[in-house]
Amino acid sequence: REKKRKQGVNLLELAARFFRERMKMAEGQAARGYLERRGLSPQVVEEYGIGFAPNDWEALKRHLGEQGISEAVQVEYGLLIHREDSGRTYDRFRDRVMFPIRDVKGNTIAFGGRVLGDAKPKYLNSPETPVFHKGRELYGLYEARQAHRQLERVLIVEGYMDVVALAQFGIRNAVATLGTSTSEDHLTRLFRMVDEVVFCFDGDRAGRQAATRALETVLPLMIDGRQARFLFLPEGEDPDTLVRSEGTEAFQDRVTCASPLSEFLFDQAAAGRDLARIEERERYASQVLKALARLPEGVLKSLLLSELAKRTGVEQARFESLLAVPDPVAA
Ligand code: UTP
Ligand code: MN
Ligand code: MN
Ligand code: MN
Ligand code: MN
Repeated sequence: REKKRKQGVNLLELAARFFRERMKMAEGQAARGYLERRGLSPQVVEEYGIGFAPNDWEALKRHLGEQGISEAVQVEYGLLIHREDSGRTYDRFRDRVMFPIRDVKGNTIAFGGRVLGDAKPKYLNSPETPVFHKGRELYGLYEARQAHRQLERVLIVEGYMDVVALAQFGIRNAVATLGTSTSEDHLTRLFRMVDEVVFCFDGDRAGRQAATRALETVLPLMIDGRQARFLFLPEGEDPDTLVRSEGTEAFQDRVTCASPLSEFLFDQAAAGRDLARIEERERYASQVLKALARLPEGVLKSLLLSELAKRTGVEQARFESLLAVPDPVAA
């Protein structure tokens, strides 16, 4: 299995090198222009190994074929698409800016490819392969670890461009999930390296929904003084656009001021509710309790319970007995 993994990783590294070289050639001109318009410096393009997949159905297939790599292996690692009906194979990534996705050791294990224009899908990712499991990997984690002797916190953002733009502006601790929501697996891995995660999703409805899901996911992992905070961006902005318009320091200030989990939890439960009304206060308390039921036993849970009691005027012991019943509010 180790040998197999090595074979896959070698193949993907060859592909990454191919994309980087093509970016520098005449056919990469449009891609270079695109990255320049997006404001990416040559240094950051280099650091993240960004390349270009030519507008050709077989460019990579020919290149890898010349190195003696079988089509079957290229299909297995997601570089070639095999059509069952015609039996034909062709390059998965064409006419796209290519972001290599690296594992923690720096091996390329997959790609994300962005169209230069407005075509759909905007981003195309490698499929699941023997070396790539989408729900586990985080784009930029390798680079973030390279940039810091000791990473203290990680910013979790939505996109490739967010990670790269932040890095260009000196904020080198951002990672992105790969078109999936933040999973428990992602967070467990991150909490092995850092004590604090800051969720920083796009300032739009999808981004806010992602934050709500991230809260649910992170709750059971809140042990041993781990911190989770939530940074909400102005409507229509993402980390890429915001760091470019506001600069590094202003963005860092936003990170510093990001809401702690406790604040987001209460704010979210209170949102749109008139807490002067008893029924709405009841729903508020139920929503907070439902979250608390997901928290491990510990000081944080006790503190939040006592805060809930304070905010609702209900005795803490009442909430404790409600929580002691399995799944108190689900019914
Ligand atoms: P966004 O649409 O917010 O992309 O999707 P973005 O990073 O801001 O893209 P730019 O700035 O227009 O280049 C966030 C992330 O969701 C995944 C990608 O990982 C992307 O970075 N995604 C998005 C896909 O996988 N496929 C898509 O078609 C779109
Ligand atoms: Mn799998
Ligand atoms: Mn968005
Ligand atoms: Mn963007
Ligand atoms: Mn975005």
